[in-house]
Amino acid sequence: MALLEVKNLGISFGGLRAVDGFNVNIEKGALYGLIGPNGAGKTTVFNMLTGVYQPTVGTFTLDGENLTGKSTLEIAHKGIARTFQNIRLFAKMTVQDNVKVGLHNHVKYGIASGVFRLPGYFKDEKYLDERAKELLDVFGLYGERDYLASNLPYGKQRKLEIARALATGPKLLLLDEPAAGMNPNETAELMETIHFVRDTFDMTILLIEHDMKLVSGICEEITVLNFGQVLAQGKPSDVLNDPKVIVAYLGE
Ligand SMILES: Nc1ncnc2c1ncn2[C@@H]1O[C@H](COP(=O)(O)OP(=O)(O)OP(=O)(O)O)[C@@H](O)[C@H]1O
Ligand SMILES: [Mg+2]
Repeated sequence: MALLEVKNLGISFGGLRAVDGFNVNIEKGALYGLIGPNGAGKTTVFNMLTGVYQPTVGTFTLDGENLTGKSTLEIAHKGIARTFQNIRLFAKMTVQDNVKVGLHNHVKYGIASGVFRLPGYFKDEKYLDERAKELLDVFGLYGERDYLASNLPYGKQRKLEIARALATGPKLLLLDEPAAGMNPNETAELMETIHFVRDTFDMTILLIEHDMKLVSGICEEITVLNFGQVLAQGKPSDVLNDPKVIVAYLGE
């Protein structure tokens, strides 16, 4: 059984089938890519998997448990965390406090035996500070822990959003174009960090990314969406050489 199993998921907005017959299986520990042109339905898939939108058809399960139709809160508690295409941080809170908000929402299972200890510690401020420090260290943000989130440079705000999502102790982390707006150096560094997070926390990650090359560099498997439908699925080397995919991306 895969960690995430999505069967025939679909949603319509008015007459528009934004996503239609979406299927994917994501194994535990996978770093999986979801790509496709603008408006293909990528973010809509995330919105369905997090309860922001209720699918019109289809189902999805996490660890064998059917989460279709559950609320955003329930789904978060069941272990799906996400970041947003447009950064959403608590702008007037410090960097460290942003991560602590995530830690407060942490539920018992989690990343990480390695990072988290006994549940009883969670009310302990000092404990939260230590856990926040560990996560901030991973993302190279510890030195800026007392800055207001809004004062961080853009690339670091993106990292902070990932750190906060991770702090909730998810089973599955959904990243919606985490490198959007970053320069090539920042992007390369972020991809390394994402890889590191997967390896270190044994996290399962589904990554939306626009840049095909970038995705093929770090993901073991990818799905290409086009006009709401799965165009191709499999190893990046195969998928990116698929003529259908090339046409969808280049338009001709
Ligand atoms: N709440 C909504 N109401 C109506 N239409 C919507 C809604 N959300 C998304 N759509 C439409 O669904 C389609 C898919 O949008 P979505 O945002 O999922 O695309 P995307 O693949 O994430 O694109 P991008 O790469 O630009 O982020 C688009 O045509 C979009 O306009
Ligand atoms: Mg999108």
